[in-house]
Amino acid sequence: MPRKAILAALKKADGYLSGEDLSRTLGMSRSAVWKHIVALRQEGYEIQAHTRLGYKLERASTFLIPAEVEPRLETERFGRNYHFHTSLPSSNITAKELARQGALEGTVVLTEEQTAGRGRLGRGWYSPPGLGIYMSLIMRPRIPLGQTPQVTLLASVAVCKALEAVTAVRPQIKWPNDILVNGKKLCGILTELNAEMEAVNYLVVGIGINLNQQPADFPGDVANVATSAAIAGGEPVDRIRFLTTLLSFFEADYDHWLQNGFGQLREEWLARAAGMGTTVRIIAGKQEWLGQAEGIDTDGALLVRNEDGELQRLISGEVSL
Ligand code: BTN
Repeated sequence: MPRKAILAALKKADGYLSGEDLSRTLGMSRSAVWKHIVALRQEGYEIQAHTRLGYKLERASTFLIPAEVEPRLETERFGRNYHFHTSLPSSNITAKELARQGALEGTVVLTEEQTAGRGRLGRGWYSPPGLGIYMSLIMRPRIPLGQTPQVTLLASVAVCKALEAVTAVRPQIKWPNDILVNGKKLCGILTELNAEMEAVNYLVVGIGINLNQQPADFPGDVANVATSAAIAGGEPVDRIRFLTTLLSFFEADYDHWLQNGFGQLREEWLARAAGMGTTVRIIAGKQEWLGQAEGIDTDGALLVRNEDGELQRLISGEVSL
């Protein structure tokens, strides 16, 4: 691909490369070279253009583009079909469309910003360009419907492991899958399901992670309830390293779960659980009640002892700590 060749030549060059040299070695017109330079800039590469000297790569792209991400993937399936966008309404919507068209398990849709990012319970997800990770992963597990919530619990464990590996942040999980640091939210997961009768067609696991936001990057009073890895860990995060690490943990945990069930991952989830042993407020539909969070069941349901001393199992709903 000529664009890759131009990029490779710019990366190799020490200083400026003349447009004439580029067009001669790549066998294309100077205006074609210029078009590729414009496209590379749109992909986040900083390229100087000088009428006399030619082109110089000032800074590689920090966008999560295929050319930068794919060479660093260490997975077998997750991320190997990688759909990158600079802006989308919501990566979950695009991923569901791809899944409907038959996209393979492990397909990732990633966007630099979302203009209508979606959260759980009909909420939105603020997704400014370049600071976070907004991605959706297509999964096709052959499992009974009742086990699908475990996939979201797996995803939250994988996000925690990636944060622990790449940053100084030590996160906690609020059931079912909010990732918190110092009581503020750093990541949310929205899993959407397509199934017929008892058979799962596909799951789209949408993950939004605040990585490099500073408090002023959050709108209104969101900074009171949200944080980022850079705020909590004190230094900026290499988003490409974070993304590829997350995909590795997620794929390994998912494969382990398919083969061995939820046992070990349940332990890993519990090791990071927030609010266990404390009084929590449960909001399930129109009902609200207080109880003592005691853990999660072998299938991932939250176990809460109500004020009458009865142990209740929660398979959906909202918990506030
Ligand atoms: C939550 O409410 O906590 C879930 C937030 C999920 C946000 C992610 S960002 C990528 C994907 N696309 C969306 O529109 N939402 C999810």
